[in-house]
Amino acid sequence: MKSVVTTAYRPTDGSRKKAEEVSSELAIPFIERNKRSVEKLHEVLGSDVLVAAKERLEFYPLGISEPFFFHPNSSAFRTKRLIANDPLIEVSGLQAGDSFVDCTLGMASDSIVASQWIGEEGIVVGCEAHETIAYVIKKGLALYDKMPHLIDAMRRIQVIHTKAVDYLTSQPDDSVDVVYMDPMFTEEIVEASNFVPIRATANTSQLTDAWVEQAIRIARKSVVLKAHFRSTDFEKFGFQRRIRPNTKFHYGVINCQQQKAPE
Ligand SMILES: C[S@@+](CC[C@H](N)C(=O)[O-])C[C@H]1O[C@@H](n2cnc3c(N)ncnc32)[C@H](O)[C@@H]1O
Repeated sequence: MKSVVTTAYRPTDGSRKKAEEVSSELAIPFIERNKRSVEKLHEVLGSDVLVAAKERLEFYPLGISEPFFFHPNSSAFRTKRLIANDPLIEVSGLQAGDSFVDCTLGMASDSIVASQWIGEEGIVVGCEAHETIAYVIKKGLALYDKMPHLIDAMRRIQVIHTKAVDYLTSQPDDSVDVVYMDPMFTEEIVEASNFVPIRATANTSQLTDAWVEQAIRIARKSVVLKAHFRSTDFEKFGFQRRIRPNTKFHYGVINCQQQKAPE
């Protein structure tokens, strides 16, 4: 069994209704909680468990007892600083009203920063290959209301459950301003992050020629890669690396205007 959904430990009518809604939207079984711990449910059912808790949806991959749930994460502090100086914004050349495709949505922190920066005229599409992660983040972006300054930016993000290359391939030439990719690092970074519970479950695919070619084809301004500072993908796929001293990850950029300019 792939995933099941259940209620909070002490279910209310609201929690049960929410769990039933998740069951129907994700086409996964609804299981009575019956005061069992998540560990017990993992043991008995042998599947990932989603919990429709009072305030949020929690995802417990099989064998993991820490929940994964939506939270603005790094976007909370990055949007309190001058966003123009955020490395993603600087490197990408994103401007107000632009369109941004995030190939690897994850917790959506980068997409929230981009969305806040490009404003209400902008468009943000986030692709996420893992169905449950995409669902938890889509619900979080639609419902989270604890950071009023980010609400509009979160609501604007369109989440699509798809592999990045499939989405890119379906889009016309030169149809977006910036395409961004942040695949899972192959080298683990020791960090206290809400992403830790799904590190082993998230899609760990790495960049391919087709992925980068499709990104360049649809991007008018730039294609941006974030990767571990030891990654050789920057050079391998033609990204100009922007070194950030004392940081564990770097950004790289392909300038599409230059690349596509006639000789
Ligand atoms: C490192 S995380 C991205 C974090 C994200 N930038 C953020 O701000 O939270 C990578 C995410 O992309 C997803 N992913 C990896 N490869 C993908 C692909 N080829 N297409 C779509 N999603 C992918 C993973 O499942 C994971 O959720």
